[in-house]
Amino acid sequence: MRVGVLGVGRIGAFHARALGGIEAVEGVVVADVDHGRAEAFAAQAGVEAAGLDKVYGLVDAVVIAAPTAVHVELLRRAADAGLPILCEKPIALDPRIARDVVGYVEARGAGLQVGFQRRFDPMYVAAREAVRAGTLGTVTRVHAVSVDRRPPPPEFVPTSGGIYRDTHIHDFDIVPWVTGVPIVEVTAIGANRGAAVFAENDDVDVSAVLFRLADGTLGTAHAGRDHEAGYDVRLEVAGTDGTHACGGVTEGDFLTRFGDAYRAELAAFVSMAAGRTPSPCPGPAALAAQAVAEACVVSRREGRTVCVG
Ligand SMILES: NC(=O)c1ccc[n+]([C@@H]2O[C@H](COP(=O)([O-])OP(=O)(O)OC[C@H]3O[C@@H](n4cnc5c(N)ncnc54)[C@H](O)[C@@H]3O)[C@@H](O)[C@H]2O)c1
Repeated sequence: MRVGVLGVGRIGAFHARALGGIEAVEGVVVADVDHGRAEAFAAQAGVEAAGLDKVYGLVDAVVIAAPTAVHVELLRRAADAGLPILCEKPIALDPRIARDVVGYVEARGAGLQVGFQRRFDPMYVAAREAVRAGTLGTVTRVHAVSVDRRPPPPEFVPTSGGIYRDTHIHDFDIVPWVTGVPIVEVTAIGANRGAAVFAENDDVDVSAVLFRLADGTLGTAHAGRDHEAGYDVRLEVAGTDGTHACGGVTEGDFLTRFGDAYRAELAAFVSMAAGRTPSPCPGPAALAAQAVAEACVVSRREGRTVCVG
């Protein structure tokens, strides 16, 4: 199989290199709106580079790792070409547009996986298994943390959609995945304690979300953009018979903490693209996480509790 990677920035460059290590992948073709960047990366990584108009005809599957603002356009083109797609999160900043494009891609039937790599991290897998095995008893509380070590590049901030759609969305995917229960209600607050670029873009760099799951389980989620002591991604699931805690502060960043999870995610994608396994993170699951993020945006803006969906 030959796999195209659209966008070779922070995450795309990682994906392109990692794909090269998967046995079933015979070739990787990168394309970027900045063609010089694609060519320079290709020469360095030993992969091919192609123009954005040609790449779809050269590959059997694509990974979309361009900025969120162009995901929809790339999803449509890849779906029109009949290619299975791994699209980075979030699908689109506007939930209606995200829903439409998921429908469009699914109608063409080539397969869609969305980039929620925590589903492939052994610690989160163990948390889900503990819930499923019943060893925690009745789950009553969850607490999620997603804190970056350093703020993203300032130019990324206005394109990110804000902390709920960009960062917390991982929590809003993983909590229902681990517990098996959707988030139905949120109360979100935020603060600006660091770089001015967040406030300038109506964003916050520290946030706390209080939420309720459909079965009555209560949850909290914290996110932050600037924690020099380390990258801090955690989950605690507490039940009547026990607590399962996973993750914690690590050195490095998301690429080091989740390197193996990204590799497993890509391997699962290649398997899906080959028709061997179903999508491990289909479009509707990503839309559900996105709906929680949207509820948080409204909650912070209006200072009230908001029902999801
Ligand atoms: N799953 C995760 O943990 C994770 C982590 C980081 C980023 N992301 C997501 O990945 C996406 C990319 O983020 P990033 O931090 O790598 O961004 P980035 O800005 O570092 O890189 C984006 C690249 O895409 C290129 N590009 C822009 N428009 C394009 C187009 N129309 N076609 C092809 N290439 C285009 C840019 O030139 C750049 O090289 C975002 O949606 C982001 O939310 C996910």
